[in-house]
Formats: sequence, structure tokens, C-alpha cells
Amino acid sequence: MTDKQYIIAGNWKMFKTVDESTGFLKGLGELLPTLDQSRKDAVEILVFPPAVSLYPMKETRDKAAPGVQLGAQNMHHEESGAFTGEISALMLKDIAGYILIGHSERRHVFKETDRDVNKKIKTALRFGFKPMMCIGETLDEREAGKTMERVSQQLNDGLEGLSPQDIEKISIAYEPVWAIGTGKTATPEQAQEVHAFIREKIQEKISSPESFKILYGGSVKPGNSYDILAQKDINGVLIGGASLKIDDFFAIIQNSFKLLN
Ligand code: PGA
Repeated sequence: MTDKQYIIAGNWKMFKTVDESTGFLKGLGELLPTLDQSRKDAVEILVFPPAVSLYPMKETRDKAAPGVQLGAQNMHHEESGAFTGEISALMLKDIAGYILIGHSERRHVFKETDRDVNKKIKTALRFGFKPMMCIGETLDEREAGKTMERVSQQLNDGLEGLSPQDIEKISIAYEPVWAIGTGKTATPEQAQEVHAFIREKIQEKISSPESFKILYGGSVKPGNSYDILAQKDINGVLIGGASLKIDDFFAIIQNSFKLLN
């Protein structure tokens, strides 16, 4: 049992049409009132849908699933310009509350660098979003004993030039690259070890590191979510595959409620 507050976040990646997205949210809106309403403020429920679903989902959310937070999976660091195919903070302003920044697929498939991540975080903060910065080591880095070095470098580069007040508005999702979409999860102990390290690093930057939110991501499922969420320094989960199925996503939310006092 714990006094922690949780964020349970779903990253839908490039899955779900607009109709499927709004349908999911309506379904979730029917299930949420079955949770202990006296504890609902202790768990933030957040979905990162494809960008085209954000606006219709906001309308559905307001009517059918109040309290569910919406976030964008990515954003360009410029406000506007000749960047075909990109979306800016200005366009997302009033639609999303969170922006996922530096997800491993953005880093590895779309070649985003720590410097890009830093620029995007700064823009997101300027527009009043809550940035969720993703970090994590590859399998080669883990096997070479370089996990902490890599994580530390991503933290330092991603948060460079930010004030303590800005850093307090950010959350971190630690997602070991080898665990994303592979079915291989870090053990709760492996995840806790890195989370404790991240909190120690954050402590060097802000005065209240104990309330800083650090989420775990990588093959989180209903079956492993309780033990992961029970770890001292884990404040939530970022879920890919299992967040696409309403029953699985809701089961993970239920597990977070079981861990509340
Ligand atoms: P996964 O994805 O849960 O399918 O491993 C996690 C993520 O990419 O955020």
C-alpha cells in the first residue's frame, strides 16, 4: 500500500481510426464510474491517440469520459512553417494537455536526437503543455553495462537549460528499448533500479524529487502491471499494445487502484 499517485497512460501509436478512438473512449467512460470514486483523483488516466483523433476525442471526452486526459504523440518544435506533415504546439493547444516527446520509435525510426527532444520540450512548456519525455537504453547498451550512463545522458541532454520550475512540469517515461513491443518486460526490480537512479538524478535538478512522476513502459500488461506499479519509484505506466484493448487497459487501471491506501 502506498500514498502514491499514479498516471496510467496509453500510447496508441499508429493504431485506431477516429471512430475506433471515440468508441474506445465511450466504452472507457462507462467503466470508469465502477472504480472507487473517493480515490479517483489519485489516478490520472491518459491516452495518446493518433493526432487526427485528438479533436473528436476531446468532444467525446467532455460528454462521455470526463477526467480522461489526452495527449499528442509528437509535435514539431517550431510554431509554424514549411514542415510538411508536421503538427505544432499552436495547433494542439486547447486539444491536448500532454505531449509525448522522444518516444523510442521517434528516436530510432525517425532519427530524433536528444537535441530535438530538448527543443520540443522547451516549446511544449512555452505553450503550457505537460511534456512526457521518454528515455531508455537499447539491448546493446544494457548488455555492455551502460544503462545508467545512457539514461543519465538522455536526462541531461533532454532537460538542458530548463529551470527547476520547468522540470517540475515534466514527467519521464523510462522505456527500455528492448522491452518495447517485444513481450520482454524489465523485471519489477530491474525497472525499480533505473527509476531510483532517475529520481536521484532529478534530485540534483529540483527540490521536491519525491513528487516527480517517473513512469515505466515496455510490454506492460494486466498480468505484470500490479508488481511494476508496486515498486517504490514507479509512478505509473506507459502502455502500448495492451492499451489498445479496453479490457486490458481498464484492468491495468484497476490494478493501480488496488495499490492505493
Ligand atoms: P508496448 O509499448 O507496451 O507495446 O511495449 C510501449 C510504448 O511504446 O510506449
